[in-house]
Amino acid sequence: MRAAVQTGSDARAAVQTGSDARAAVQTGSDARAAVQTGSDASATLRMRCDAGLARQNPSQARLAGRNAAEAGFTLGHEEFAKLLGTTAEGLPEITREAIDAHDFRMTPLAGSELRAVEDRVRAALNAPLPVSGPSRQPAWEAGWGDILARFAGSRDLADLEPHYFRKPSRTMRVLGRYVRPQSPRFEASFVDVLQTWLAARWLGEATAIYEFGCGPGHNVAAFARLLPERPIVGLDWATPSQELLDLVAESTGYPISGRRFDMFAPDRELVLKPGSAVVTIGAMEQLGERFEAFLGFLLAQAPALCVHVEPLHEMYDASDPFEQAAKRYAERRGYLRGYLPRLEFLAREGRIELLEVRRHLGSEFHDGWGSLVWHPRRKNHHGSSQDDR
Ligand SMILES: C[S@@+](CC[C@H](N)C(=O)[O-])C[C@H]1O[C@@H](n2cnc3c(N)ncnc32)[C@H](O)[C@@H]1O
Repeated sequence: MRAAVQTGSDARAAVQTGSDARAAVQTGSDARAAVQTGSDASATLRMRCDAGLARQNPSQARLAGRNAAEAGFTLGHEEFAKLLGTTAEGLPEITREAIDAHDFRMTPLAGSELRAVEDRVRAALNAPLPVSGPSRQPAWEAGWGDILARFAGSRDLADLEPHYFRKPSRTMRVLGRYVRPQSPRFEASFVDVLQTWLAARWLGEATAIYEFGCGPGHNVAAFARLLPERPIVGLDWATPSQELLDLVAESTGYPISGRRFDMFAPDRELVLKPGSAVVTIGAMEQLGERFEAFLGFLLAQAPALCVHVEPLHEMYDASDPFEQAAKRYAERRGYLRGYLPRLEFLAREGRIELLEVRRHLGSEFHDGWGSLVWHPRRKNHHGSSQDDR
């Protein structure tokens, strides 16, 4: 699916530009080689090695990153291409522009700075941590309520940005090691790039887009800008989300709307438009191992495509301490687990086709950014499944 992504001046104007961001620190070829793209842990991944989905051993990746990057490095077109599973030439123009418009310079952590992060991670793993699940619903109501108050006052789309992109720690997990980005907006910038990629690579042909667990609607607004005229529905169990989307629609004229939806108890009255795409971004993360009801909903609705940007628990290599820390953190937080093996099972059964399994990068505690793309196969009149795309 590649189509009609808005590349005009509107879209460009919405992407922040700055010559600083372009003055990227030199990137060594070793660092490029070190961009880590996935995990052996997944059978699907092994099957798809020829499609460029192979991953490096994390310690090899870390070593290569260390050699090339002691003095700092950046994510340019080549590095993003590897993270996203394409070539630099294969990056859509809008994605290249977004990469160029942001500052992705970073310095690998070493010495006391590295020890401080490792201590912080260890302390977090030994401390009580909030666990995702139904009991967290009031916290999401409150969080998005704050954003609603902010946006209602300003009507500035930048104010839709979730609080977790404005947190004090700037440490990220990139290339198999902890890094300190130059820009405090590194993760938010990564999301800006990712949104262009998702729009161009996967969502271009969708008749409508449904983002489940959309929160304040910053992705919905971005997709509406990138894919003009496309109906987009943002769904969330927190009610300020729907109020925010109403306000955004009113302020921008985008064809977007909000709807209340609980992924633990899917609303069977919701019927997805034929040919539509489902998106989740850091939302199924919150379901832990209780994703079956939502998966059942997706299989029954049979959208043309499901695009998840979520942590992929089964891709951590438990034999590597850096990986192990993130794996344990995700377990302590009760993040998404078992979904990838479940989809792999359905793929083996011929009920779905898995198109993409890829880990990108992470923030301080875990690799929250991974892609899982699949679509249900339609049953033919003989009762067996066939590809319907
Ligand atoms: C980490 S936020 C991600 C928000 C947004 N997708 C983003 O990219 O920033 C998780 C979102 O999932 C929503 N969520 C968590 N559990 C949910 C459930 N059972 N049903 C619907 N939404 C849920 C939360 O309200 C929150 O908006």
